[in-house]
Amino acid sequence: MPNPTLILNSKLSRLKSIVVFASGSGSNFQAILDAAEKGEIPASVSGLIAQREGIGAIERAHRHQIPVSVLNPVHFQDPSLFEQAMTEQLEIWNPDLIVLAGYLVKIPAAVIQRWHGKIINIHPSLLPDFGGKGFYGRRVHEAVLAAGRTQSGCTVHLVTEEFDQGPVLGQRRVPVRPDDTPDSLAARVLEQEHRLLPDVIRQQLTT
Ligand code: GRF
Repeated sequence: MPNPTLILNSKLSRLKSIVVFASGSGSNFQAILDAAEKGEIPASVSGLIAQREGIGAIERAHRHQIPVSVLNPVHFQDPSLFEQAMTEQLEIWNPDLIVLAGYLVKIPAAVIQRWHGKIINIHPSLLPDFGGKGFYGRRVHEAVLAAGRTQSGCTVHLVTEEFDQGPVLGQRRVPVRPDDTPDSLAARVLEQEHRLLPDVIRQQLTT
């Protein structure tokens, strides 16, 4: 008869480790937690790096017993100490994949180099349009409406040192309606983010 402990160990060893970074409500983080718990992605979340205390993403982490590290660059005397703290935390959690899910701080170059090709970001537009410095949150959707676009969507891309410019790994599109406001468009895009992000994570961890 097969040894149940060995079977369990071999199943566990196939689970990869994900670390999520978030600055806000964390609905994309929740989509990852749900997909992991349903077995839709072959991974578990080892930890959350939160930009600051009090954000929704931290509450979600607590509900799922996920360890949290709050790393706010303003609490460090100089950027190299922030980089060092982030690196040390990541070395402990040892992620196969790092997911920036609504994270508004630039990742230090040394971290991008150390986890090269293993950091992905979700952005609420069809990159390369409406990406780069200044395009975050509501501003992205305001710009899409101001430009009179009839389509928008979301993108997951690899993180490189150039903001929002790494290779695109996946996109989902939504129509822009004539009566859209930035908030109604954001909500439609966010629904698609929650589908796209687990899909790309699965693809990244299994290929
Ligand atoms: C999402 O629109 C994401 O694309 C952007 O920030 C927002 C985060 O939302 N980078 P949430 O915190 O995951 O709910």
